Amino acid sequence: MIDIKDLHISYGKEVALDNVNLHIKKNTTCAIIGPSGCGKTTLLYTIAGLIKPNKGIIYINGQELNSIRKNTGVILQNYGLLPWKTVWNNVSFALLTRNDIKNDAIIKTENILKELGIYEYKDKYPSELSGGQKQRVAIARTLALEPDLLLMDEPSSALDAMTKEHIQNIILNIYKQKPTTLIIVTHNIEEAAFLGQKIIIMDKANIIHTMDNPYFGKDKLRENIDFYSFCLEVRKWIREAI
Ligand SMILES: Nc1ncnc2c1ncn2[C@@H]1O[C@H](COP(=O)(O)OP(=O)(O)O)[C@@H](O)[C@H]1O
Ligand SMILES: [Mg+2]
Repeated sequence: MIDIKDLHISYGKEVALDNVNLHIKKNTTCAIIGPSGCGKTTLLYTIAGLIKPNKGIIYINGQELNSIRKNTGVILQNYGLLPWKTVWNNVSFALLTRNDIKNDAIIKTENILKELGIYEYKDKYPSELSGGQKQRVAIARTLALEPDLLLMDEPSSALDAMTKEHIQNIILNIYKQKPTTLIIVTHNIEEAAFLGQKIIIMDKANIIHTMDNPYFGKDKLRENIDFYSFCLEVRKWIREAI
């Protein structure tokens, strides 16, 4: 699905990605983890087509990426909701700007809001919602467009511990119901081990290690002591406290 070859990105003199190579298989999940400033967001935005590399190529489904792809869904760190639109309009707007027929947009919006348990908030504005509710609206808006590639930047970083777990469960369930290629950037080790089939560890503009996650998708993972041993293995690769 995704092939990244010799990617190099700098912001002026600041090197954000230095010859990064990465392969991600179709319909798998991948968590990118590393300390603040190591280049995670830059890598995600480049895969989204939002940042142009100085050097290197990204192939998605065999095609060279040159601009934003219609079938890539991005969930940004700060939710990116439109404050002047209600929950309903934030979700349906995305469909209508894609030229969906109005009736289809209504049905899809209703279904996705119900699926994510936010239908009851449909007439509220983002400022009236908690962080977890806002994140669910952001996920709903992106999922309504049925992307084949879903990119998430720190999906639970602004949330308290219980809401974090709730959002992570929602993301995993969405994936289990309808596998898509999913890339999650995080600086949270448990989140990476919970949501990543593959875990990519970054440090200072480079990928330093890749791990396959034998526990991905297993039932009652958070009650399994082996899961926490795996988290410790991931932690060993992370050089700075994060
Ligand atoms: N728009 C920008 N202009 C200049 N430097 C930037 C910009 N965005 C990020 N950087 C720098 O690039 C490096 C990588 O940033 P980023 O990709 O945001 O890392 P992360 O998401 O891992 O915290 C950091 O040193 C950061 O300061
Ligand atoms: Mg970031």
